[in-house]
Amino acid sequence: MTEPTLGTVYLVGAGPGDPDLLTVKAKRLLSKCDALVYDSLVPQELLDLVTDRCELHFVGKRRGHHSIPQTKTNTILFQMAQCHSCVVRLKGGDPFLFGRGVEEASYLDSRGVVVEVVPGITAGIAVPAYVGIPLTHRLAGSSVTFVTGHEGVDKRRPAVNWKALAQASDGLVIYMGVHNLHYIVAQLISGGLNPATSCAVIQQGTVVGQRMLKAPLDQLVDEVKRLQFCPPSIVVIGAMVDYQVESCSAKLANVTMPILF
Ligand SMILES: C[S@@+](CC[C@H](N)C(=O)[O-])C[C@H]1O[C@@H](n2cnc3c(N)ncnc32)[C@H](O)[C@@H]1O
Repeated sequence: MTEPTLGTVYLVGAGPGDPDLLTVKAKRLLSKCDALVYDSLVPQELLDLVTDRCELHFVGKRRGHHSIPQTKTNTILFQMAQCHSCVVRLKGGDPFLFGRGVEEASYLDSRGVVVEVVPGITAGIAVPAYVGIPLTHRLAGSSVTFVTGHEGVDKRRPAVNWKALAQASDGLVIYMGVHNLHYIVAQLISGGLNPATSCAVIQQGTVVGQRMLKAPLDQLVDEVKRLQFCPPSIVVIGAMVDYQVESCSAKLANVTMPILF
């Protein structure tokens, strides 16, 4: 007896929120896929691109609800590949940057499913750009680090060496950093980063809910608390914040984005 043929799963980046930042390849796949498995930060406008016959599965987090375990997401993807030829797994930003995309790819690959990755514009690049903050500058930033402020709970101890980063990178772009900001800032300052270093936090970047605060490093935690910034937010730390060109600010997409917890 021949094995049933498995479909292809496309791990697709949805971009940071503004639907216009979807790649042409992603748009083409959405318009023809048989099944779509998607996250919380994927706007409704992108879900509208699929056909009526497409099977939809939401696997993201929602405020006040338990998030779906990764194992369950993996299982859903495998099941979709067993009954459909073109499955899109749509993830916010880029699927291989802080998105557990590679875990899904490995799981599917080990079960004989063909996986193709379609990169997306990551929030760490798009969100600062939408407020006119450059990530490098010829005079102020020759290096930039993308780093997570929230490491997997299963790690025995934090792997990010914030003290070393304080010395090694001119700029830091921190994902999921809001909840651990007190710890991160304390580590950076004790690692030698100047407490007066310029910082920005941008919440819900690229869409109408976008807001930003700027503060020196040693006042950042208080400002984030005072103004009640929440995820999803990108934290930018470094002198390049001073080179913001406010007139570059992009027009925001009129789509809603959930506040995460
Ligand atoms: C699980 S990570 C996924 C990152 C995603 N793979 C990417 O490449 O952008 C989610 C985090 O990305 C950041 N993020 C994603 N979209 C954002 C947005 N529109 N505005 C601000 N931060 C965003 C936030 O730090 C959020 O907590």
